[in-house]
Amino acid sequence: MSLQWSENLASGSSDIDTQHKELIVRVNSLLLAVDKGTTAREEISKIVQYLTDYVVFHFGNEEKYMAKYNYSSATAHKAQHEQFVRTFMKLKDRLMMEGINAPLAQEIKDLCVDWLVNHIKYSDRALGMYLKMKM
Ligand SMILES: [Fe+2]
Repeated sequence: MSLQWSENLASGSSDIDTQHKELIVRVNSLLLAVDKGTTAREEISKIVQYLTDYVVFHFGNEEKYMAKYNYSSATAHKAQHEQFVRTFMKLKDRLMMEGINAPLAQEIKDLCVDWLVNHIKYSDRALGMYLKMKM
């Protein structure tokens, strides 16, 4: 399974969209490892770190925009980012301890596909539209 960027994920901000495309590339490398059942801890760790680095950068970038342009839903949006990071870190710890197994693979997909698509379609679109008006 892999995630594809399409116009229905467009946020209204080309900067945010460019970053979402890169985020999807990195999510897909994790999904590929999960689908392959990669067991090498070192490889899993590298792929997880590759995604984590960009998640941190990208959420930080959105949050800078929120602060700069006084976005009224910033607190709720940031809470969603924090929730993602917390859940992702827990999954990462389990991945490192357990290796890949079916229930864990499903939780990773739920977070990295369902949560992310939902977040992009609603929360990031609302932010992108706001930025479009303000910038
Ligand atoms: Fe966001």
